[in-house]
Amino acid sequence: MELLLENLCKEFGGNTAVAGVTAVLEPGIYGLLGANGAGKTTLLRMICGVLKPTAGQVRLDGIPIDALGAVYRDKLGYLPQDFVGYPQYSARDFLLYMAVLKGMTRSQAMPKIQELLHMVRLQEAGNKKIRTFSGGMRRRLGIAQALLNDPDILILDEPTAGLDPKERVHFRNILEGYAQQKIVLLSTHIVSDLEAIAHKVFLMKDGCFQTQGTVSELLQQANGRVWELTVPSRESETWQARMTVANLRYDGNSVTLRILADAKPAPAARPCIPTLEDLYLLYFPEEEGGDNP
Ligand SMILES: Nc1ncnc2c1ncn2[C@@H]1O[C@H](COP(=O)(O)OP(=O)(O)O)[C@@H](O)[C@H]1O
Ligand SMILES: [Mg+2]
Repeated sequence: MELLLENLCKEFGGNTAVAGVTAVLEPGIYGLLGANGAGKTTLLRMICGVLKPTAGQVRLDGIPIDALGAVYRDKLGYLPQDFVGYPQYSARDFLLYMAVLKGMTRSQAMPKIQELLHMVRLQEAGNKKIRTFSGGMRRRLGIAQALLNDPDILILDEPTAGLDPKERVHFRNILEGYAQQKIVLLSTHIVSDLEAIAHKVFLMKDGCFQTQGTVSELLQQANGRVWELTVPSRESETWQARMTVANLRYDGNSVTLRILADAKPAPAARPCIPTLEDLYLLYFPEEEGGDNP
């Protein structure tokens, strides 16, 4: 199975949201990492066929998805960024409704729904109305509905938004179990979601992939550009004004700064092993790492 993104472009009015994205996706977990406004949602909507590209196309095993139509949709699971469900439905009824829309019979759907509610840890809340759900529970329900038809291609737009740290870990475990022989593409602006699970990361900015590679390939790019320096606390602000500082650790009257710089920032600076968050900050110095948990 091969999903080809061929020069995908999308303009809204005169604004370019996605500016020519080309990539080949084979089974595995792919992370789409970028700040708000980078074009992630627009790209994912084009891949799902809910938004028509201004130029370019998506092909599955060589065939344009437009030509595949329902055959493509049957293989696809999609969690939209703005998924809300139906507030007045229970989680179970909502999943049943979605299953019927996807062409499943009730007897096919019931055991699947049971399995999915269990998988996303909503088995006890299954009969509760969605309007009583927390943000994290709603997100987990959204993940469950995307998995109803055992999709070969799973597209998740900010699946971990609103999940607490424990739910995040659980989500990563679900994906790792699921992703064998499937294409999973998830967007996030939270670096730690990807570090452990993504086989390949696309770093998106201004509608383009700025760089892509395995986590270790991307980390190579940050090699020699991450430093630790301990200075008196009172110098902290001066350093932050001059340099990109990824992290601060106060200890009494001194502070240890994690500095991103192409050259050694001071004679006493020590080289560090880079993380994906360091690389993200090298590409998006103005972002301060988003809202990493
Ligand atoms: N339906 C739309 N109409 C007009 N502009 C849009 C629409 N959807 C997205 N955009 C614009 O496209 C850009 C990329 O947005 P989006 O794809 O939502 O990025 P991300 O998901 O990375 O935050 C933004 O500037 C956004 O305002
Ligand atoms: Mg988005």
